[in-house]
Amino acid sequence: MVCREARVGGKRAIASKSTAGSASAAILTASPGLQLVYDTAPVGLAFLSTDCRYLMINQHLTEICGISISDHIGRSVRETVPQVADQVERIVRLIVESGKPITGIEVNGQRPDGSNVDRVWVTYWHPLKSRNGNVIGVNVAAEEITARKRAEVERAAMHERLRALNQTLAERVEAQAQERERLWKLSQDLLIVTDTEGTVLNVNPAWTATLGWEPDELIGRTGEWLVHPDDRDRSREALVRMLAGTSTPHFENRVKCKDGSYRWLSWVGMPDRSSVYAIARDVTDLKHAREQLNALRRELARVAQQTAIGAMAASIAHEIKQPLAAVATSAHSGLRWLGKAEPNIAEANAALERVVKGAHQIDEVITSIRTMFGGGPSEKAPLQVRLLVEGVLALTQSELEAHGILLRNDVPDELPAVLGDRVQLQQVLVNLIVNAIEAMSVVTGRERQLTIGSSFDGQRVIVSVADTGLGINPKHVDQIFEPLFTTKSRGMGLGLSICRWIVEAHGGRLWASVQAPFGTAFHLTLMPT
Ligand SMILES: Nc1ncnc2c1ncn2[C@@H]1O[C@H](COP(=O)(O)OP(=O)(O)OP(=O)(O)O)[C@@H](O)[C@H]1O
Ligand SMILES: [Mg+2]
Repeated sequence: MVCREARVGGKRAIASKSTAGSASAAILTASPGLQLVYDTAPVGLAFLSTDCRYLMINQHLTEICGISISDHIGRSVRETVPQVADQVERIVRLIVESGKPITGIEVNGQRPDGSNVDRVWVTYWHPLKSRNGNVIGVNVAAEEITARKRAEVERAAMHERLRALNQTLAERVEAQAQERERLWKLSQDLLIVTDTEGTVLNVNPAWTATLGWEPDELIGRTGEWLVHPDDRDRSREALVRMLAGTSTPHFENRVKCKDGSYRWLSWVGMPDRSSVYAIARDVTDLKHAREQLNALRRELARVAQQTAIGAMAASIAHEIKQPLAAVATSAHSGLRWLGKAEPNIAEANAALERVVKGAHQIDEVITSIRTMFGGGPSEKAPLQVRLLVEGVLALTQSELEAHGILLRNDVPDELPAVLGDRVQLQQVLVNLIVNAIEAMSVVTGRERQLTIGSSFDGQRVIVSVADTGLGINPKHVDQIFEPLFTTKSRGMGLGLSICRWIVEAHGGRLWASVQAPFGTAFHLTLMPT
């Protein structure tokens, strides 16, 4: 193949001279105007001989394969761009055979290093015919459409994204609508939509299930006729308040059932533009249960009150037993002194004074117990344990003597004063002493001795009452402080529970311990002032 070079407008235009392309080459070399077009056209241009050799090519077209103009001229397509040679040869053949142009063929970048493979050109193939109509060559024009192509791809992707989004949106809307529909149907709460006048627009099936009304009987009418006459004004006000946006969070009224009865509904509503959406829950059973509960509470309070009264009566009876017995003894002895042939007025006087004292003590005990049960403040004051014990011993002396019990008072003089209610603490000691007397009165053959002691451990004052009685049955150790527990035929089982209650109300503790070799000791702690 012979190549011929011609310079046109300072640029190289080369025509090849071959057997097949000589006619066309002659045309081209004789056409400097054409060369100018080649050099200045904004598109790629080439002229191929019918045996697919480049007779002309401009710079733009070399962009596709990256080979210079001079390396194209006179060379075949197969030599320069073998990758597309088959396609080009076919196109040229078709054009030669048909004499018709072929357009719109897209070609990608063909540089051997692959650097421009994503660039795209659209090519147009037009025959150049001789006068007698034979095709003597093919004009190729290539326009780069990379940007347009990219835009197209992006547009297509965008379109696809939009389509997908639309579809998901539609699916979501559909799913939500179905969900709402399901909730609307399944809800056990009564759902209703009305306009702002209260005309019913829609109700869910719960209306039929709960109240018996079919939707047709409700839709299109206001709901006022359904509301209990006593609740109508309140209901109307609630609707007005809700529409004004100041609704109370919950509102209850009675709504008529188809069978004529009424159910209590608890409402929550919300206006939205021209509609009102409301939910009502049937709270009839809840309300009845609440009423029953209240009635039960009232009954319980009454029973508790009666129990408290019973307990107070029992406590008073228990606590005045001992002082009452002492009063009776003193009264008897007073009568005895007066009944003598020579009445001893002084002794009778003393006995009567003891009666008066005992009566006062009984009065104090009753007041103290009422205070205990009424929850009123007890009168706590600083007390000397020794004086407290002596006062109690004076009250129980005659009984100790009557049972032949030896008394040992070990309470030291120097003890810190304790803070307490005198009458209540005296009751505690009297109860413990009476129990001790009762425990010793049944033992024979050994000394009956009551020992009262007291000490201070640096924090608390401890008072102990010990006896040499029959002792506590180990089986009962845990029960003796329980109310109503007694092992005595005439016992009430209240003494120790009252004692523990009083001691604990003073911030102290009360407990029992086994005495060696026999007997029991009770210990209580009191707070120093
Ligand atoms: N000093 C004691 N020695 C042995 N057992 C005792 C002693 N003190 C109490 N107990 C036992 O504890 C039980 C309960 O005593 P508590 O004082 O509470 O009731 P009670 O003495 O039986 O009857 P009451 O209500 O008349 O006092 C007694 O029945 C007795 O079994
Ligand atoms: Mg007792």
